[in-house]
Amino acid sequence: MQVLLINGSPHQYGCTHTALREIAKELEREGIASQELHIGNGPIQPCTACGGCAKSGYCVFSDDLVNQAIELLHKADAMIVGSPVHYAAPNGSLCAFLDRMFFRKSKSYALKPAAAIVSCRRGGASAAFDRLNKYFTISSMPVVSSQYWNSVHGNTPEEVQRDLEGMQTMRTLARNMAWLLKCIDAAKNKVPLPIQEDWIATNFIR
Ligand SMILES: Cc1cc2nc3c(=O)[nH]c(=O)nc-3n(C[C@H](O)[C@H](O)[C@H](O)COP(=O)(O)O)c2cc1C
Repeated sequence: MQVLLINGSPHQYGCTHTALREIAKELEREGIASQELHIGNGPIQPCTACGGCAKSGYCVFSDDLVNQAIELLHKADAMIVGSPVHYAAPNGSLCAFLDRMFFRKSKSYALKPAAAIVSCRRGGASAAFDRLNKYFTISSMPVVSSQYWNSVHGNTPEEVQRDLEGMQTMRTLARNMAWLLKCIDAAKNKVPLPIQEDWIATNFIR
């Protein structure tokens, strides 16, 4: 079993990575592998709503890691997305990345457990956390919870290490994710998957 960890910070080895690494270590203790994908700190093209992905399943833009992330999530059993808090929201580049990664691809990610984690210096964590969870709850992805809303506090990796409750929240999340993955595996061929109806898109017009 493998969990895809997306590091949505411009800092590859910053606070968000520190929290994700705590999760990776705990997953490993539970016998579950993980892979961290850093979105980079270059420009990330926003979604242009061209609809190209509806046909191919991939984004028409290929000069960043979005298509690689789509590929990795197809192979992974679950995902955890991490972001720094920027003005009480996830990093804007990460939102552009996830918009393109998720738009029109809900069916291919359905039933893969997911979670978000955020890192902030002081405030705005739960607003950013809520925003990230929207990607999962529109994609039939079971959201894994922890003992608190998933955040760590700090401006440097060292400060995050000193946020003992935040780090414990990361470990609890990892163990809950491991438990759900093992339950899903144990239920294979025993509990039928829920039927997925075709999407009825009414656009608020009757
Ligand atoms: C543009 C920008 C906006 C930020 N906005 C907030 C904020 O609203 N609340 C907060 O507590 N910290 C804010 N911060 C601080 C970061 O969220 C915090 O340092 C975070 O832990 C950095 O994580 P990273 O090392 O993974 O990038 C902001 C930082 C930047 C660069």
